[in-house]
Amino acid sequence: MSLKYKFPENFWWGSATSGPQSEGRFNKKHRSVFDYWFDIEPQAFFNGVGPNVASNFYNSYKEDVKLIKEIGLNSLRTSIQWTRLIKDFETGEVDEDAAKFYNNVINEFIDQGILPVINLHHFDLPVELYEKYGGWESKKVVDLFVIFAKKCFELFGDRVKYWATFNEPMVVVEGEYLYKFHYPKLVDGKKAVQVLYNLNLASAKVIKEFKELGYDKNGGKIGIILNLTPSYPRSQEEKDVNAAKFVEDFFNNSFLDPAIKGKFPENLVEILNKDNVIWESTEEEMEIIRNNTIDFLGVNYYQPRRAKAKEEKFDESNGWMPDKYFDNYEMPGRRMNTYRGWEIYPQCMYDIAINVRDNYNNIPWYISENGMGVEGEEKYINDDGVIEDNYRIEFYEEHLSYLHKGISEGSNCFGYHTWTPIDCWSWSNAYKNRYGFIAVDLPTQIKTIKKSGRWIKEVAKNNGF
Ligand code: GAL
Repeated sequence: MSLKYKFPENFWWGSATSGPQSEGRFNKKHRSVFDYWFDIEPQAFFNGVGPNVASNFYNSYKEDVKLIKEIGLNSLRTSIQWTRLIKDFETGEVDEDAAKFYNNVINEFIDQGILPVINLHHFDLPVELYEKYGGWESKKVVDLFVIFAKKCFELFGDRVKYWATFNEPMVVVEGEYLYKFHYPKLVDGKKAVQVLYNLNLASAKVIKEFKELGYDKNGGKIGIILNLTPSYPRSQEEKDVNAAKFVEDFFNNSFLDPAIKGKFPENLVEILNKDNVIWESTEEEMEIIRNNTIDFLGVNYYQPRRAKAKEEKFDESNGWMPDKYFDNYEMPGRRMNTYRGWEIYPQCMYDIAINVRDNYNNIPWYISENGMGVEGEEKYINDDGVIEDNYRIEFYEEHLSYLHKGISEGSNCFGYHTWTPIDCWSWSNAYKNRYGFIAVDLPTQIKTIKKSGRWIKEVAKNNGF
């Protein structure tokens, strides 16, 4: 078969989901910040739908894995919920039911020939640790997270070979401490900077533990999943270029650099120092960050960022914010996914590939999420009852074509995961926008393969399209 885009051998064709977004709260003994937020403020969630049932994966994982197999995926990422696995956060005592559940899930994937990629944190901090210690503001919580990670390695590390420490740690910083879209919805730039640092430290400490326990010698690899939003200036004027450079350093490189190079971007550190908001750190911690970099990188890509110089001087009377250094720029004529309010710009796939190749040692990396959320997909159901999501297939093909170009120019990309295999719960957007290859009818939890599910099966089988 002649293909226009052929991908490297053993390429990962898969999808990503997470524990809190798919499992439901069944039999969970603790609450995450999201569980708690829903309990106290259900109206903050689209149509009042919370994480209680999600896509029922806790009960239907066998059938779900079968469907995932049916659409030909060779790999899949999900996450282990700290609030499910651990009974006592201080000692790391494990909940036996939860250990059994995750063992069953992992075994099921492996039995079906699907490579499990396991992430340790997907925004789901135990709310008790927020109340008791201030969550990620506290280095105590960093150490408790290492205890949880160690348990995961010990319980599942014989079979799981690909681990991620965090999913989109920058979203924790933005959502919880800057822009109020995740509980506790604070606006506190100084705390945000400390959290940013602590999350980097937590990732490095987990990697250190992984290596000390010898999982790297057993074919194990550990990485991090970052949402990269390549940042483009409004114009080539110096002031716009500087604004975009700050955005790139604050929102992307503040995790990318420590994860791969073991150090923070110098320009950023200089600015945070000058503004007196730099994090508290010790030389010993910096050493841990320096010496414990990732084996592979996962990139979640949805949208670019566009920046321009500030139009008005930033009012600092309510405290420091990164927004002191840029304004967001809405480029006229940009293509939008109006359901999600995100720009569509597939060229970024190429720019990311080249950035990793040229500035990050061409480290092995993969696209760990890319996707298109669409509302009201039932209007695309055809006579056979299948959702004809042609827009999604086009979206993927376009993004893949730019990724392919980056790979053909030498970027070391080993896979492409979409968000998400089966429609899942998307935080405060709940089930508003659907992303899956497989649709979920919420009232009945009946799951049906969309047209894109048939498409990915062909792509995976042919290793291209
Ligand atoms: C990502 C996140 C996912 C999912 C997705 C679509 O940023 O990692 O958990 O919610 O957005 O909204």
